[in-house]
Amino acid sequence: ERGDRMTGKKVLITAGPTQEPLDPVRYITNHSSGRMGYALAEAAADRGAKVVLVSGPVNLDAPRGVEVVDVVTADQMWRAADSHMDADLGLFTAAVSDFAPVSMQDQKMKKEQGTEQMTIEMKKTPDILKHAGFHAKDMYVAGFAAETENVEAYALDKLKRKNADCIIMNDVSNPDIGMNSPDNEVVMLFRDGEPVPFEKMDKQSLASAIMDTLQDRWLD
Ligand code: C5P
Repeated sequence: ERGDRMTGKKVLITAGPTQEPLDPVRYITNHSSGRMGYALAEAAADRGAKVVLVSGPVNLDAPRGVEVVDVVTADQMWRAADSHMDADLGLFTAAVSDFAPVSMQDQKMKKEQGTEQMTIEMKKTPDILKHAGFHAKDMYVAGFAAETENVEAYALDKLKRKNADCIIMNDVSNPDIGMNSPDNEVVMLFRDGEPVPFEKMDKQSLASAIMDTLQDRWLD
């Protein structure tokens, strides 16, 4: 529908939350709906790209023409994404859990009488965006920065630390935008070039606008 400027290009997108199991019935997760990543996948497919969408557990339908790889944990998301590091464009929208329980209990954890506090040992999960930034030679790498304070400073830091070409930042301290909201308001920051701000809009329209801007930077 949007022309075929991305025909022959492969796009890798991560989306949604991850779930890190504690025991057979409990897990650690976050409020990500996956909407931004799914909207970007649809926008890329509309432009003719071959799209692989590595998705955590969400309540969304697979966009038309998109290959969805369903995963649950950060570790699974990492492994699925790692097998597509040959993509031309990578959009890392997933809200990956930063830490996961060191071990999963085989049986449901019981509350013992008299225990008022407990400690769960957690380990860091692999950083998929950072891995792509440093190791995917031919990929244009774009990440997301959702912060509640010092938004721009943290986003610029992320651009450098993860060796990304672009960071799309939003201020999630405002409940009207960002995580689990239908709307979003972002600023795109680039390794080379001036920041590009967007007005608040629904995630479908924003995905189109982001994709147009990325195409200009990366394809031309
Ligand atoms: O470091 P932080 O989690 O704030 O960075 C957010 C960006 O990094 C997002 O693009 C997110 O998808 C990506 N990320 C990742 N793997 C992780 C943690 C974050 O790809 N383990």
